[in-house]
Amino acid sequence: MLTRSDFTNLAEKAIARCRKLASFSEDTGGTRRTFLSAPMGDCHREVSFWMSALGMSVSVDAVGNLRGFYPAASPGGPRILIGSHLDTVPNAGAFDGILGVVLAAGLVESLNGFKLPFGIEVIGFSEEEGVRFGVPFIGSRALVGRVDEELLNHKDERGISVRKAIQDFGLNPNEISRAALTDDVMGYIEFHIEQGPMLESLGRPLGVVEAIVGQNRLEFTFSGQANHAGTTPMNLRRDALAAAAEWVVAVENLARHIADLVATVGSVAAKPGATNVIAGEVRVTLDIRHASDRARIEALDELIRQAESIAARRGVTAKWRTLLAQNAVAMDPFLTDQIERAIQKADYKPHRMASGAGHDAMILAEKVPAAMIFLQTPGGISHDPAESVHLDDVAKALECGHQLLTQLAASQEFLGRTCRA
Ligand code: GLV
Ligand code: MN
Ligand code: MN
Repeated sequence: MLTRSDFTNLAEKAIARCRKLASFSEDTGGTRRTFLSAPMGDCHREVSFWMSALGMSVSVDAVGNLRGFYPAASPGGPRILIGSHLDTVPNAGAFDGILGVVLAAGLVESLNGFKLPFGIEVIGFSEEEGVRFGVPFIGSRALVGRVDEELLNHKDERGISVRKAIQDFGLNPNEISRAALTDDVMGYIEFHIEQGPMLESLGRPLGVVEAIVGQNRLEFTFSGQANHAGTTPMNLRRDALAAAAEWVVAVENLARHIADLVATVGSVAAKPGATNVIAGEVRVTLDIRHASDRARIEALDELIRQAESIAARRGVTAKWRTLLAQNAVAMDPFLTDQIERAIQKADYKPHRMASGAGHDAMILAEKVPAAMIFLQTPGGISHDPAESVHLDDVAKALECGHQLLTQLAASQEFLGRTCRA
């Protein structure tokens, strides 16, 4: 029987591990670890070392997901997956995604060698943020059989395709189908920081995710005519950047006027990009999210109309391509109830909520029951080096996770379930 101080010790270790992994970065001044980059290889070595020490067998699948397996009490028993992602945004914090992987290993450690009726596969997804290729969830998509030729041919800024990145990492893209979920997977559980202010404002350390909002990601290209900044009169310009800028403000306006809609233009690239040249081509990204799929799609249609009309008025063209179209996803009601019970059993007050951030759980939910546990995020700050966690909350998450495993191991309803794949 573990005590609260055992969970605090495990939590201290988990936080130190997250901080250590934050040092594996492509940038010297902050954490940036994208899909199959060299620092991702270092990260794999470190996490593999921790998992091997727990008696887990560790492998990397063909899209670069790190997978550690802790067997069931009886050979051939079913398994549950627990994990999150190991990639980061640029200038990232230490906990987004990483904490979920580290906590999964911490939960295996909390079992102290004790085996359950199901095995535990800890999974560190290779790509969730969509930073390198603009397309998120490459790691989890492989588990549900959604890494297709189009995705493999997608290129990063240096012209390297997903397929080539996989090969350069020493993996074989022809083996991606072997990463897919097998019939023995009973469910997926993900621990993650909330990345928002709700739990903190309610004074609740842990949240139970009921649904993850839908999102679209697109790239818009405004094309005008590059020309001399000193000689071209204002009324004769076809300035792609001015058109894009007007549209960026239109995006913000629309989102401010539709309840619960969030829309973000997070990246702008102007060509040729010189002080004395009118921009001839501008690429901007759009990230748009709403709990209602209908509201999101209607807002997106409106923003496309506005891009076209702004462009036409300015003698510019606007084209777009979709990088992600993901509907809102409900979490599994049985697992969600079990998580709520586990939090109550440990004497904490759960809070049911929707997630505005995307998570690997929304992809896994296509094929297996999936559920998520949120930890409050101090100051609601994430995707920034100031991202943090409270030691107490991490200890509580481990305690509740351990309780959840105990409950599931004793649940005939759960043990009778099989994969929907
Ligand atoms: C993942 O961090 C997301 O963008 O929701
Ligand atoms: Mn993130
Ligand atoms: Mn994340």
